[in-house]
Amino acid sequence: MCGIVGFVGRGDAKDFLIKGLLTLEYRGYDSAGVAVVREKGDLEVICRKGKVAELSRAVKELNVTGSCGIGHTRWATHGEPSEVNAHPHIDCTGNIAVVHNGIIENFMELKEELLSRGHAFASETDTEVIAHLIEESYEGDLVQALRAATSRLIGAYGLAVVHSDCPDEIAVTRKESPIVVGNSVKGAFVGSDPIALIDYTRDVVYLEDDCIALLHGDGKIDYYGPDAEPYYPEPTHIDWDAETASRTGFPDFMLKEIYEQPRVVSDTIAGRFADGAMSFPELEELDSWLDTIDGITIVGCGTSYHAGLIAREFLERWARIPVSVEVASEFRYRSPILDDRTLVIAITQSGETADTLEAIKIARSLGAKAITLTNVIGSRAARESDAFLNIRANIEISVAATKSFLAQVALLACLAMHLGVKCGKLGSEDIARFAAEIAAVPAQITQILNERPEILRCAKACSKAHSVMFIGRGFGYVSCKEGALKLKEISYLHAEAYPAGEIKHGPIALIDESVPVVVIATKSDTYEKVVSNIIEVRTRGAKIVAIATEGDESIRKLTDYVIYVPEIPDCFSPLTTSVALQLFAREIALIKGCDVDQPRNLAKSVTVE
Ligand code: G6P
Repeated sequence: MCGIVGFVGRGDAKDFLIKGLLTLEYRGYDSAGVAVVREKGDLEVICRKGKVAELSRAVKELNVTGSCGIGHTRWATHGEPSEVNAHPHIDCTGNIAVVHNGIIENFMELKEELLSRGHAFASETDTEVIAHLIEESYEGDLVQALRAATSRLIGAYGLAVVHSDCPDEIAVTRKESPIVVGNSVKGAFVGSDPIALIDYTRDVVYLEDDCIALLHGDGKIDYYGPDAEPYYPEPTHIDWDAETASRTGFPDFMLKEIYEQPRVVSDTIAGRFADGAMSFPELEELDSWLDTIDGITIVGCGTSYHAGLIAREFLERWARIPVSVEVASEFRYRSPILDDRTLVIAITQSGETADTLEAIKIARSLGAKAITLTNVIGSRAARESDAFLNIRANIEISVAATKSFLAQVALLACLAMHLGVKCGKLGSEDIARFAAEIAAVPAQITQILNERPEILRCAKACSKAHSVMFIGRGFGYVSCKEGALKLKEISYLHAEAYPAGEIKHGPIALIDESVPVVVIATKSDTYEKVVSNIIEVRTRGAKIVAIATEGDESIRKLTDYVIYVPEIPDCFSPLTTSVALQLFAREIALIKGCDVDQPRNLAKSVTVE
């Protein structure tokens, strides 16, 4: 949530800041701002409500120049989205500017204290207290002042600070919120995400909690540990390709990411099947412990939670281990029954979701061991688990998750097979069959991408509805949940997913000609039951869009529109039906004129509760 950038060096800081903020805009986009130190004693701060484009215009008009600056794109938590609440925030003297990701939990108390000492506040944010705390501690040393200020903070923060006394320095620190720094011949850079830096350097340092980095204009970066002693971290090489952060000819990132899915699924499963066995070297250290588990709890939020629901089916079918799946924000406030024989599987694309992180922490404190599936290797979730598995989806920029979902599901299938083998429930023949079936999925996804014209026709037919119902059974039901979430997220159309067998118990009362029903009716053991459910809603006048297996001509007679997907074992059907539903949601959103990459009120990573 929110994006931080900073540059100090040779050249104009504003170019890097605006470009970086545009790159990080997917993390938050309700207001943005920059602070540039023009020369000693001259700090200029410009903020705008709305997207970075607004800020960019203002920065150009006001001709802000200077070679040291910080910037921020915001997803509001404390204080409504407005120019006054946008970061950077400044102290009473106007010499110090701060950008912040995270939440300061004790800000009310600190604010009272600072007010009583005569500080004047301009915004409603928690962040502003930090600027005033630094002001109080500053005696010519920015690092020392930052350390003193953060020692008073309770909560999570990624921070970048400039002082007009130091036109050649940026001080940064973090606690539970990522900060990445790097340098080149041009100078030193900071971002809350390495994607802001990859055009300038591929070697970055992920700052650790409670450490401070001081960036200098000559590119030098000094690092100080929690004990204030200097240290020398090893940089991490980022090997994303140059196209990662660009739309490469696609009109939006969502479509680009949907089209990447055949490759992503291949990458995710690559190397997992070796000579009739499963390969999970990352789990080697847990190997003998995994033989002792008697229960699995899966935690995640949003789309990642849906991947968990699918994984339950895999794990219970193939490994015969009881599985519970929980929304992380609920799990953390229950009294979950876990012990040292429970495996927790945390699913989080970003590896930053606050509730999922807390769920991992709670589970481990109860003796369970946690394996995290994530797309971000250096993320907190990866670091705070007993083992992590990289879903290998490459960076996902569109706020609505697409390719990360498919990668999660594919990897969870492999993991379930691995546990099935370990539990003696699956043998090499099963593995060989699964390997062949899942290897066919990328080509099957490509086939669905070719169905776009038909999906557009269905989308047009549903775009004027005020509500869409999604029904299915088993794997089809979970795909419906994900399809409904996609539609809500990006088109703001109300959508509900129900198990098809459950509609008689209430939801069918909602059905009339104005409520289209999307039905997953692919070939499965419950196909005939789903057909009966189609007849039930059809009788109530609903317009029906079916996702069906190619060759199923009889379904045409019962429905208004059919999107065909290739024949696939039912267990892998979420890997194909979801793609059709992603495209369906995107087409509706576009017809309704919505911004599919940056839907209102949402953010890619939810780093606050
Ligand atoms: C946000 C995103 C969703 C995502 C969810 C969980 O709500 O908009 O797309 O599914 O967070 O994120 P995670 O990074 O933990 O998978």
